[in-house]
Amino acid sequence: MTQLPGLLDTEAIRKDFPILDRVLHDGKKLVYLDNAATSQTPRQVIDALSEYYEQHNANVHRGVHVLAEEATALYEGARDKVAAFINAPSRDEVIFTKNASESLNLVANMLGWADEPYRVDHETEIVITEMEHHSNIVPWQLLSQRTGAKLRWFGLTDDGRLDLSNIDEIITEKTKIVSFVLVSNILGTLNPVEAIVRRAQEVGALVLIDASQAAPHMVLDVQALQADFVAFTGHKMCGPTGIGVLWGRQELLEDLPPFLGGGEMIETVSMHSSTYAPAPHKFEAGTPPIAQAVGLGAAVDYLNSIGMENIERHEHAITEYAVKRLLEVPDLRIIGPTTAEDRGAAISFTLGDIHPHDVGQVLDEQGIAVRVGHHCARPVCLRYGIPATTRASFYLYSTPGEIDALIDGLEHVRNFFG
Ligand code: ALA
Repeated sequence: MTQLPGLLDTEAIRKDFPILDRVLHDGKKLVYLDNAATSQTPRQVIDALSEYYEQHNANVHRGVHVLAEEATALYEGARDKVAAFINAPSRDEVIFTKNASESLNLVANMLGWADEPYRVDHETEIVITEMEHHSNIVPWQLLSQRTGAKLRWFGLTDDGRLDLSNIDEIITEKTKIVSFVLVSNILGTLNPVEAIVRRAQEVGALVLIDASQAAPHMVLDVQALQADFVAFTGHKMCGPTGIGVLWGRQELLEDLPPFLGGGEMIETVSMHSSTYAPAPHKFEAGTPPIAQAVGLGAAVDYLNSIGMENIERHEHAITEYAVKRLLEVPDLRIIGPTTAEDRGAAISFTLGDIHPHDVGQVLDEQGIAVRVGHHCARPVCLRYGIPATTRASFYLYSTPGEIDALIDGLEHVRNFFG
């Protein structure tokens, strides 16, 4: 069995994930390498969800009965856990949403309806990058269409990194918001936050970081990032689906207008007008995803029990091994950085002229789950002149043996397609 320095005790960890024991067609053991799409769920999170529904289920912030108070304490307790996990200065800066897309859309809409100095209008500019997930492109296109603001973006280098050579021309005095991904879901690239934030701060632009592919895998310290907003989602970090997070600086959340109106986000309502509750409730209209937040809190406890530094070290070792082995496969081209230093644990590649859907199909027949397609980042495929990629992505339970299985699987794909 391949041993690498820095690996976690995956034998013990995998016992927490019942699904990893699944045996698929023809007795093939599941090799789950689609963690960038969604991670698997440990028993501890499944138990927290069951216990919530079996013992505490009620609506939050509304009732005086025991269950309502317990549900409220669990929901707000999850907010405390998330705040500590990302080193937020205040728990009131953590807004629960349904996913990262909603978090990103929330910021775009806040800015569209905001007064000066935050207002995005036809005299201002929005900056994104060519490696964004569609969820960090489309909301800005919509805002640009609605307000007349100009949408600009950083292009990509041939080796899958951001081209920041023209940073001073892209981020200018007109820029209101710079929104970019910390770790690309398709290229795996880890982006240079400091340089972008420094330039944005020079011109007084706000910064939003999409940390969906970072929060599950590395220590995420919102204060160290020095951004204004950070978005991520629960289901990629051992939590359930249906829960996302938007962290925002308190003074901004106080100043910015709400997006969705409804119960819980108000202070008073009359037939003529309403006043709003303070953040985070101002941005959480209606019954929130209560059980999902509780599940996310349990996921945070679980990740903390392993240690984010340990998870980061493990994934670095696995990714380094995977890059090395993939590069040995004839005709395989990694789309993105080919070193493990400035990348996350998602690796996209093409294999000769075999279509990625065919690669994925033959791998699936061997029990190996990868994602194929444009990964909701179609501009990246256009940039590199490819229709799609095959993507393998790892997590704390991934093993070198699974990388070996992927490499054997790709050999099988090559033989199958001659
Ligand atoms: N954003 C997820 C992915 O990259 C769904 O696969």
